[in-house]
Amino acid sequence: MSRLMINGGKPLKGDLSVHGAKNAVLPILAASILCDDGVSVIHNCPDLRDVATTIEILKYLGVSVTRTGHTLTVDARSRLGNHIPKHLMQQLRSSIIFMGAIVARKHKAKISLPGGCELGPRPIDLHIKALQDLGCKIKEKKNCILIRSKKMKCGTIHLAFPSVGATENAMLTSCLSPGITIVENAAKEPEIIDLACFLNAMGACICGAGTNRIEIHGVSHLHAADYTIMPDRIAAITYLCCAATTGGDITLHNVISEHMEPALSLLAQCGCLVEAKEHTIHIAAPSCLTMPPAIVTEPYPGFPTDAQSLFLALLTTANGIGHIRENIFSGRFKVATELRKMGAAIALNNNEATITGVPGLHGATVKATDLRGGAALVIAALGAQGTTEIENLHYIDRGYDNLTTNLTRLGADIHRI
Ligand code: EPZ
Repeated sequence: MSRLMINGGKPLKGDLSVHGAKNAVLPILAASILCDDGVSVIHNCPDLRDVATTIEILKYLGVSVTRTGHTLTVDARSRLGNHIPKHLMQQLRSSIIFMGAIVARKHKAKISLPGGCELGPRPIDLHIKALQDLGCKIKEKKNCILIRSKKMKCGTIHLAFPSVGATENAMLTSCLSPGITIVENAAKEPEIIDLACFLNAMGACICGAGTNRIEIHGVSHLHAADYTIMPDRIAAITYLCCAATTGGDITLHNVISEHMEPALSLLAQCGCLVEAKEHTIHIAAPSCLTMPPAIVTEPYPGFPTDAQSLFLALLTTANGIGHIRENIFSGRFKVATELRKMGAAIALNNNEATITGVPGLHGATVKATDLRGGAALVIAALGAQGTTEIENLHYIDRGYDNLTTNLTRLGADIHRI
């Protein structure tokens, strides 16, 4: 298995363009099967393991996909399958989004439980209930989920929690159903807006995406679309934290600053100079950070759970005592064990972490335990004195396009072996 070797302590300097959003392109690729008479073109697609797996699922369903650089061409005109095998479903969480897309076109589907990072329980009850509210009959057998719908119906779906995936599944399932479907307590993440914009570019009629109430007016047919994926806000925050931990000075391009307000405000409270324009962000960091007020993860527009591990790593060497409360995924503090191997002082109590800032971290051999936990170890290693070896790179490869090349270009001493 490949590993990363990082010699820390070098301030990052320079400019970087941020890749397209993983959590936008994955549901949009699932949505692309809803067009059966044209070829969609999707630009700014990052080259990630999760995108490669999603393309494998599309091809298994009979869809042809070609990649030219960061542009994918998707042709779903041939007969579409309705079954995704377990070995593909289990490679990522967002495979569950195909359930709604397949049902919308085929009115039946056979899938198994999705995979994804182990961040604690990752049930799909809200997805199941949403499809049942739309008239689907769902049978769960050992490891297999059968969905049937003789007649799709519209309806009102009230999500008990603003689940990103369940909101996406509700939108995909209902966009070709007659009538008006309402999703209440919908997730408001920017990736939901991107999915709605793609579906509307295909001829769907969806309004309210980005608010907690989404209206889907079912249409009879969707055509091909030419679409550009939004920038990845979590990748952007990752690079900002890499600069902040090394006392660096970088400028990010191709970002949407308003998607990252809580993180940008926290970086400023840590003592960084943060200059955010609409599509660029400049950060200049001090040699030692100040501990910010307590961080609490919440659904968008609150502080994103996906940035929690990144800040846990960043704050290990800030001045003072800091607190982070994780309200979304109970298993998201696993990386603390690895950070302690590098000298971090982190105390955990249920869903709360208390960080006592130390003068500096030292290199160690550590293991990535999930995607954002792996990125957190990169941040810690870049700021540490000495050499850090990070194992289980496959986690990081799921969500970061060209991470090693990009960091090298910014002056980091990092090698993939
Ligand atoms: C999406 O996961 C993202 N993944 C996650 O990013 C992100 O952390 C998460 O949204 C929250 O923002 C993709 O978009 C591919 P949820 P998702 O449904 O849809 C509970 C990353 O690192 N829940 O909003 O799985 C769930 O247990 C990944 O890029 C139910 O109880 O997240 C969690 O506590 C990690 N029942 C909460 O809701 C359900 O049926 C939020 O989950 C579904 C979810």
